[in-house]
Amino acid sequence: MTIRGSHITGWGTALPDQVVTNADFEARLDTSDTWITERTGIKERRFGGTTASLAAEAGKMALESAGLLPSDIELLILSTTTPDLTTPATSSIVQNTIGTRGGAFDLNAACAGFVYAMVVAGGMVKMGANRVLVIGSDTLSKITDQNDRSTAVLFGDGAGAIVVELDPTEDKILSYDLGVDGSAVPILYCNHGGYMTMEGREVFKKAVRVMVESSRNVLESAKLTSDDIALVVPHQANLRIIEAANQRLGIPMDKTAIVLDKTGNTSSASIPLALADAAEKGKLKEGDNVLFCGFGAGMTWSSAVVRWSKS
Ligand code: COA
Repeated sequence: MTIRGSHITGWGTALPDQVVTNADFEARLDTSDTWITERTGIKERRFGGTTASLAAEAGKMALESAGLLPSDIELLILSTTTPDLTTPATSSIVQNTIGTRGGAFDLNAACAGFVYAMVVAGGMVKMGANRVLVIGSDTLSKITDQNDRSTAVLFGDGAGAIVVELDPTEDKILSYDLGVDGSAVPILYCNHGGYMTMEGREVFKKAVRVMVESSRNVLESAKLTSDDIALVVPHQANLRIIEAANQRLGIPMDKTAIVLDKTGNTSSASIPLALADAAEKGKLKEGDNVLFCGFGAGMTWSSAVVRWSKS
């Protein structure tokens, strides 16, 4: 029987050249490498580029890895919290740089946006699209007060992308869970033209809770247990958040993709950056069940279980 399922067939990444280490912050703020490392797991992050330029670089790499031409793409979805312009959507600039066909739009679900976008791509494949380019790109350094030690050390810039293609044999997106609790807007937000404002401890507690609940939801929908998961690809905000969620879910850290030590929190880019790193290190085998889990301002959350199958 032919169905309109989806699978991930390629991936790409982009990071700006400027490396900002904990020592750089230590030199000009009342903070220390020890504090940042112990509380967050972050050692360095990258600053620079535009959301569109990073997105286009990652998107082109994803097309190459999938063996596709820009004209093969029928839809481009750009997940971002930091658009380059108020209008048009940053995806218009990316479309023009890469040369994709069909529609393009931005999606903003904060740091949960990438998994939202991947799930939407799967829905669009069901509706007839054959190849969708999904990009997560953010330049959070621009909306972070670099003199506020409680936020400055956390965020970085970057982009990651995947290609979602029609799979006529099986839907490899086994299950998904998207959610939002709008009552949590005041604990993490950024006004137009302003800087990110955050109640760190509150965000931490809620993040662990939604990661655990949302992961349990997708495991149950996919009729799997945590033992069936070969790799978790969580949003890369804070190593302690990931450790706390993993512990409650019964998933060991060695089954977890981590890049936040090198990238900080890159919002929409964090999950595809971690996925690409795991894939390049040979941590993903055909048929593996991969648990994606994101959370962010809103408070939004998004999880999915995907069966890894590039071919
Ligand atoms: N260096 C040194 N001290 C710092 C600091 C820094 N960079 N940032 C904050 N502090 C201080 C605080 O001012 C506070 O001092 P006080 O006790 O004198 O008031 C102290 O450290 C403890 O602050 P607290 O907020 O309780 O620390 P924490 O253990 O919760 O860690 C975060 C702070 C921000 C690292 C943590 O709460 C966190 O990661 N939260 C989630 C943030 C997040 O993921 N946001 C994005 C979601 S997508």
